[in-house]
Amino acid sequence: MTVRNKLTTDSLKQMIDLHCHVLPGIDDGSRLLQETLDMARTAVKNNIDTIVATPHTLNGFFTNKWENVVSLTATVRKAFTAEDIPVILYPAMEAQVCPELFEALEKGQAATINNNSRYLLLEFPPFFMPPGSRDFIYKLRLLGITPVIAHPERHLILQNDLRQLHDLVKQGAMCQLTAVSVTGLLGSAVQKSAELMIKTGLAHVIATDAHANDQRILALSSAVEIAADILQDPSRADKMVTETPAAIIAGVDVVPDEPVLDEKKWWVF
Ligand SMILES: [Fe+2]
Repeated sequence: MTVRNKLTTDSLKQMIDLHCHVLPGIDDGSRLLQETLDMARTAVKNNIDTIVATPHTLNGFFTNKWENVVSLTATVRKAFTAEDIPVILYPAMEAQVCPELFEALEKGQAATINNNSRYLLLEFPPFFMPPGSRDFIYKLRLLGITPVIAHPERHLILQNDLRQLHDLVKQGAMCQLTAVSVTGLLGSAVQKSAELMIKTGLAHVIATDAHANDQRILALSSAVEIAADILQDPSRADKMVTETPAAIIAGVDVVPDEPVLDEKKWWVF
């Protein structure tokens, strides 16, 4: 990697973490309120002032209810205030692609980000692409929902086949990369995928996807610096943790740059 542009971090405003398992005791993320507070304190240290809580739902292990996510978010907000932790918290869910998703959205077992009816954090089953995934994205778009695909660089198929991801983005999906994928903590194959997704304009947001106050901590700066290097454009990299997630939370339009995929370099080895 080339020399980082130090100005990028120094000039960064406060950042937004759009994907974080910070709510206690609701999925495989934070176990206790104390852990949630520790995660939020780490976020503050790393210039993150806004966290979107995204507990899993419909992933075969956890199916959550929106009303519980909202009430737990209110409890954690109160705790942040009591502990003087300057973090704004929004509720959301990370829903897995499954045939039941559309019904689950109606029943409150899945929900859009901040319940804005516009953006949905969506993950694919980790080891395969369900048949009809393209139509699935299209159907969500018909409902006015833009799916934000969670960590495609960690997906067994998508991490290697950027043409499939490109196809989904052309259908109107957006993509969120995990910060530690970009920094290399998850291995060189994942890092290479992330790099190529950034380079080709297939990545729109970088988030922590933190589950605890451990290695995958609430920090974004290093990943943003690397993205700035890859793009040779610090402001485009900054947008991935500021303007774009802010618009997604607010439920307003984001007009992403057109992805540029070199037909000869779509396969990542
Ligand atoms: Fe997640």
